[in-house]
Amino acid sequence: MRFKGSTIFVTGGAGFIGSAVVRHLLRDTHARVVNIDKLTYAANPNSLPGAAQNLNYSFEKQCICDGAGLRRLFEKYQPDAVMNLAAESHVDRSIDGPGEFIQTNIVGTFTLLQETLRHWRTLSPEKREQFRFLHISTDEVFGSLGDDGFFTETTAYAPNSPYSASKASSDHLVRAWRETYELPTLVTNCSNNYGPYHFPEKLIPHMIIKGLAGEPLPVYGDGKNIRDWLYVEDHAKALTLVLERGVVGETYNVGGRNERTNMHVVETICDLLDEIAPGAQGARRSLITFVADRPGHDRRYAIDASKLERELGWNAQETFESGIAKTARWFCDNRPWWQAILDRGYQRARIGLG
Ligand SMILES: NC(=O)c1ccc[n+]([C@@H]2O[C@H](COP(=O)([O-])OP(=O)(O)OC[C@H]3O[C@@H](n4cnc5c(N)ncnc54)[C@H](O)[C@@H]3O)[C@@H](O)[C@H]2O)c1
Repeated sequence: MRFKGSTIFVTGGAGFIGSAVVRHLLRDTHARVVNIDKLTYAANPNSLPGAAQNLNYSFEKQCICDGAGLRRLFEKYQPDAVMNLAAESHVDRSIDGPGEFIQTNIVGTFTLLQETLRHWRTLSPEKREQFRFLHISTDEVFGSLGDDGFFTETTAYAPNSPYSASKASSDHLVRAWRETYELPTLVTNCSNNYGPYHFPEKLIPHMIIKGLAGEPLPVYGDGKNIRDWLYVEDHAKALTLVLERGVVGETYNVGGRNERTNMHVVETICDLLDEIAPGAQGARRSLITFVADRPGHDRRYAIDASKLERELGWNAQETFESGIAKTARWFCDNRPWWQAILDRGYQRARIGLG
């Protein structure tokens, strides 16, 4: 009876990973879930089919930078845990407009910590002991790796983009609220996610949608940047496990041991689309073009997730090959989900050149 009788706040629950967490909690646990989301361009209530009819689900349109609004929600729902996924998350957007990243990722996390602390201090000693604040972060806080080595939980922070710098700042705040005020916090740092309901601006959905349309497939730089890919549902399960069994004050790296160059990812998508949706354009690999690189583009990320595997028994269920095949199939079968995003004006134009 996982999380029976518990109320969990999920901030950013209408986004890509947050919606996977909400779907997982509603499907596989007994938790009562309150989704707190400002509904920015990246949010999509259509990523939560059936949630509105679920008695264990509530939605609150709320910005995490608004302390009074958050306080009202803490008083209304009396949560037992907070999972913080609300964020501005796209590196290219952070290059063109870092202000929103500073606001949501840093000021928002600070405000959420303050209101969580206020609530936590009203709880009985027993409830205070059980309470958890899980902050969801990224491996990008560690910067860029050379040809070998992995990010571990003790790797020094060295963020290179406004996005990763804002996430690094928020991680430090979470740690400080634990050390200074004893708020029971945990942090996870995860590698690149992909899967269903991924907003079309990110590499994998962008390439699938362009590939389906027979349009040029723009690869940044030389295409040799390496990311360590994790299927989003594996991430959602890892987060739930850390919330349930993680040791307070610890950080956990989450990753699928699936290092691939961007070029390999795009070529795999081409081959899958050729199989699933053959078109007049012929082999889609011929659509690949190289475009100017992202400024400050980190070369390689690779996560050592052995602490999470060893201590909490988590393992990724999907390999890159199985996950990318499911993802390509999902985008082919769920065109109305992404077509609605394009129809409401998302341009897919190149941004983030600095
Ligand atoms: N996408 C990845 O590959 C990845 C990898 C590791 C970690 N992360 C982290 O996971 C978290 C979720 O990432 P994602 O890819 O789902 O992001 P996303 O951009 O898809 O979704 C973010 C959600 O947060 C909401 N939001 C934004 N600002 C808000 C605010 N001020 N108040 C309340 N809600 C707000 C948005 O409306 C949206 O629903 C982020 O913290 C991100 O840093 C992402």
